[in-house]
Amino acid sequence: VKKIWIDCDPGHDDALAILTALAYPEKLKLLGVSTIGGNESLDKVTNNAKNILHLLNAKVPLIPGERGPLVKSLRSAPEAHGESGMDGIEFVENDYPISKTNLIEYWYQLLIDSIEPITMVAIGPLTNLALLLKTYPEIKTKIEAICLMGGGIDHGNITPAAEFNIYVDPEAAQIVYQSGIPIVMAGLDVTEKSYLTRLEIDQLKQHGSISQKIYGLLDFYNKSGRQFGFEVSPMHDLCTIVYLLNPEVFNGKNYSIEIVTDEGLTRGMTLADLRKKPVVKNETFVLLESDREKYVTYLMESLAYFDQK
Ligand code: BDR
Ligand code: CA
Repeated sequence: VKKIWIDCDPGHDDALAILTALAYPEKLKLLGVSTIGGNESLDKVTNNAKNILHLLNAKVPLIPGERGPLVKSLRSAPEAHGESGMDGIEFVENDYPISKTNLIEYWYQLLIDSIEPITMVAIGPLTNLALLLKTYPEIKTKIEAICLMGGGIDHGNITPAAEFNIYVDPEAAQIVYQSGIPIVMAGLDVTEKSYLTRLEIDQLKQHGSISQKIYGLLDFYNKSGRQFGFEVSPMHDLCTIVYLLNPEVFNGKNYSIEIVTDEGLTRGMTLADLRKKPVVKNETFVLLESDREKYVTYLMESLAYFDQK
């Protein structure tokens, strides 16, 4: 069983990543969830995480991290995820606990105490992880890998060059990418190919009660995607979890990547050295293709798992 932690900003696709991470306890042990200001303010994304964890009857710590990026102020994404950061689903009032612990100190202790290394799954801006690595650089050896959704070596989404998670905090991303920790990057190259169709979303209405709730989430997300030219709905963040469940769903390649932190048109770009003889500053395993049908099966199986519970 692989031990993982999810650092996120729910976020429609973040919620599905959490759901899938909890659906295969024989393969993944989710140690906890932390939040970062991203798609919405820290308070809103933490509230969304709390609600989804409660809905799924999870029993893992939920710890809020940073309110915003290391250097700049937060640029959120209400146009994609709605005012709550996760519009389209109603939750009941609940008392799922939100920890008051300092996240960096908690992570440090968790990693130190863990005999096996832990995989960090980062599906929001990389601020929390950068702070951990700056504060306790010696902890790197306890992190098996960082499996992240961010960037894209071909194109961006929030700007032509930059993807949202990296764009929000490029300074943090540069710290993470240059840390020497093995990185698996699920960027737009693969996540836009890892989508649900409108028909697949509509079929959820015929399934059990969790699927029907998630339908509301996906219906909103599918409609909001239209403004960006998407008929289908890329499940960006979910790629990280499906990769950890079964890397064979994907193929990819190692690239040396730098994050553009300069002001200007390319700020937040994940610049891969695509030359025949690259100067290797790091080796990031960049996911490029996915077997979409297998990918979707993981989500459908996860929903069925919770429908039956
Ligand atoms: C990323 O940005 C967020 O809006 C999504 O949750 C995902 O993590 C996609 O660019
Ligand atoms: Ca996210």
